[in-house]
Amino acid sequence: MSLTNWICAALMTLVAATMPATADDGYQTHCAHCHGATGAGNDTLGAPNLTRLSESYIKRQLQGFKEGWRSKDNHYAQSMTAAIATLDTRTLSSATMAISELPDSNVMSPVPRNGDVARGKDLYTAYCGACHGTGANGNDALGAPNLLGLSSDYLTRQYGEFAKGKRGTHPNDKYGQQMARLSKALKDPQLIDDVTAYVVSIAE
Ligand code: HEC
Ligand code: HEC
Repeated sequence: MSLTNWICAALMTLVAATMPATADDGYQTHCAHCHGATGAGNDTLGAPNLTRLSESYIKRQLQGFKEGWRSKDNHYAQSMTAAIATLDTRTLSSATMAISELPDSNVMSPVPRNGDVARGKDLYTAYCGACHGTGANGNDALGAPNLLGLSSDYLTRQYGEFAKGKRGTHPNDKYGQQMARLSKALKDPQLIDDVTAYVVSIAE
């Protein structure tokens, strides 16, 4: 190798080493094999759509998985916790940034078999809209995430986790605690299916 070539190669290595990883790298390398290249999620793996969640909500959930606030004894939460256990804050921020640049994805989500959309609408208006917004697109000031674009399986499962006291119980998890308190409102699983049926029916 000529000296000029060697200098060029050395410079390029140096540039590559000092350049921050592109925003996409963090996501595509560490998250896409479960949440999908487009961020739309993968229901078989239980990995939700991430493209409609706000940056502050995502950050808080990542912290929740790291610090053990989210459910610990179901394999979905365990696989997510294990996936990020060794990633540092910088990698997680770069992945979060990359997610905010992905276009919106809507998950085509079957309405729960027994869900009654009309009754779900009444329940949603009475119990959920004040925090999650009348259109279910979330309210960041209250910490309530967008519920549109999440699959019916995921929505039902998370509601159940709050209701069973598996999520939203950690003393530092003040937003989770609010949802956990509210989750006691609908005890009957049928009513949760109804609300879920309504929410997936309005996702565009
Ligand atoms: C091994 C598969 C896997 C990998 C890799 C993975 N996740 Fe997840 N992720 C999941 C699963 C499964 C869940 C649902 C956990 C649950 O049900 O509690 C989840 C949940 C989440 C949530 C919570 C969403 C919500 O609506 O509350 C966020 C945010 C998230 N993942 C972000 C990421 C990011 C960012 C990365 C990459 C740094 C990543 N995930 C890598 C499987 C994975
Ligand atoms: C008092 C405000 C409040 C009300 C009312 C409320 N929620 Fe929530 N909800 C929240 C907050 C805050 C979070 C985020 C908790 C966290 O950060 O972990 C949340 C999270 C959720 C999640 C988890 C979403 C995800 O991506 O993991 C689901 C599902 C949910 N709520 C469904 C409902 C339904 C259905 C109702 C009505 C029956 C409802 N919520 C009423 C505040 C509320």
